Amino acid sequence: MTRPAGQVRLRVLVAAPGTGKSTWCRAQGNAAGVVLSTDCARAEVGEGDDDRNASDAAFDLVEQRAAEHLDEGRDVTIDATGARRQDRARWLALAAAHGAVPVAVRLRCSLLIALRRNRSRPRQVPALVVFRMWWAVRALPPERLLAEGFVHVEDVRTDEDRSG
Ligand SMILES: Nc1ncnc2c1ncn2[C@@H]1O[C@H](COP(=O)(O)OP(=O)(O)O)[C@@H](O)[C@H]1O
Ligand SMILES: [Mg+2]
Repeated sequence: MTRPAGQVRLRVLVAAPGTGKSTWCRAQGNAAGVVLSTDCARAEVGEGDDDRNASDAAFDLVEQRAAEHLDEGRDVTIDATGARRQDRARWLALAAAHGAVPVAVRLRCSLLIALRRNRSRPRQVPALVVFRMWWAVRALPPERLLAEGFVHVEDVRTDEDRSG
């Protein structure tokens, strides 16, 4: 589905690892538009989806692809933690440069669930990183995201077990 200029959306996830970002994106189907994951991009340009040395190139690749889709009128969802302000600023600048409406999607679950889900993944993020990002997202109210420049903020809980 394509949208007229000015209506295309850039959705930026704001969530700790293990919250269920990628799972949630898949469950959204068409509503998420084109989903671009920085982990997938790391695997493409580096040695795997956890290759931190490939982060800069992975972000560049996601940004370049996002720009192309936005210009063609397709909504884009950035599947990344978005927990650092500098990363969100990058996506906000991208939205502004391509006439897209920036939307933050703050995904949260309990810390225990995030740690447990992280442990269930083939490649795990260090528990301390999950812990730090979980706190960062918790301490980031929707008003702050709106003040940064996001036009809408969706606040979503992912605690419910949807594995069955
Ligand atoms: N709502 C859910 N119910 C049950 N299991 C989930 C749910 N969301 C995610 N998971 C599981 O938790 C793990 C991490 O999910 P994932 O979507 O990869 O998280 P993230 O992308 O935020 O790191 C995966 O094994 C996934 O199957
Ligand atoms: Mg993921």
